[in-house]
Amino acid sequence: MEELRIAVVGAGMMGADHVTRITERIVGARVSAIVEPDEARGKAAAEHAPGALAFSNIEDAIAANAMDAVLIATPGQFHEPVLLPAITAGLAILCEKPLTMSAEASLRIVEAEIAGGKQLIQVGFMRRFDQGYIDLRELIVSGKAGELLAMNCAHRNPAVPDSYTNTMLIEDSVVHEIDVVRFLTDSPIAAIEVKHPKRNKLSPDHLDEPIFALLYTESGVLANVEMNVSVQFGYQVKTEAIFQKGIAEIGRTAGLNLWQDGLLATNEHMSFKTRFAAAYDSQIQRWVNATLQGKIDGPSAWDGYLASAAVTAGVEALTSGKRVEVDYAPKPAFYN
Ligand SMILES: NC(=O)c1ccc[n+]([C@@H]2O[C@H](COP(=O)([O-])OP(=O)(O)OC[C@H]3O[C@@H](n4cnc5c(N)ncnc54)[C@H](O)[C@@H]3O)[C@@H](O)[C@H]2O)c1
Repeated sequence: MEELRIAVVGAGMMGADHVTRITERIVGARVSAIVEPDEARGKAAAEHAPGALAFSNIEDAIAANAMDAVLIATPGQFHEPVLLPAITAGLAILCEKPLTMSAEASLRIVEAEIAGGKQLIQVGFMRRFDQGYIDLRELIVSGKAGELLAMNCAHRNPAVPDSYTNTMLIEDSVVHEIDVVRFLTDSPIAAIEVKHPKRNKLSPDHLDEPIFALLYTESGVLANVEMNVSVQFGYQVKTEAIFQKGIAEIGRTAGLNLWQDGLLATNEHMSFKTRFAAAYDSQIQRWVNATLQGKIDGPSAWDGYLASAAVTAGVEALTSGKRVEVDYAPKPAFYN
């Protein structure tokens, strides 16, 4: 296969961004189909995908043999109904995070993949492709700053749409840290606790935030995640890592600093689309390259399940206010 034919399923905020990315920057692949029930959205995305076929559901696209691979960018609760037919069709899959919205549903996906006999799924935990996280992991593994003891993580959005619910603080947002803390420490999240600072009155009425999510890894590292979706000023994701012999920081905005009129000014990101642009590009390019060789090159369905199991505990911690231990199923040999 010379050029990978990708169907992008869901052409909303993230899916449309991926369509443009694949057309303009990714080598060895093209968008061959857009699967989107909302006709206007599908059409708008198709303007950035010359020659792509339009479908309103994945089944029709599979029946038409319109693709070799699928990039799933539907909302999390609609991942499973797209994943299952794609697995049955034996298609390579990049599924946006989270794999599904619950540990049970993610286990069903894992079981379906195992039944098919081949690893098809990569999960879109793109922070693993961000240079800052890659550098921090290297520092941790090298031991140069001694043992890693703790992390202070901040995940801040300027605002969120009304459709963003309280549990999405964990399911949709902290899930990124849940995956990346395990990636950095090589240690599963053993337990989660959630603390509530004073509520931000600028937050939509139905949200109780910011929150501090405390992620306890099995190895003893504690990550304190400030999850804050109404900061107004911009989009920020950063981490301070506390070692025995030093402190490391990633995620500070790079670029022009301007000192003028007694002020220091620098640009801040307003969206994840720019903050993680390079990480998305790298994630998709490496996925395409690996797919052309019949492999995956990133977090697997099992990684997706582990994150879902921790999210399930995190949602319970959010509502109960208690520290909740994470319950994991044993790892199938298929993923060794
Ligand atoms: N990695 C990241 O940083 C990041 C950032 C934002 C969103 N995401 C993820 O991307 C996914 C999509 O999020 P979004 O913000 O773009 O959502 P969105 O609501 O903007 O768009 C989702 C689109 O999917 C379509 N859709 C729904 N069900 C469908 C189905 N069965 N088949 C085809 N299309 C269907 C909807 O009509 C909509 O256009 C989510 O999983 C989200 O968590 C990831």
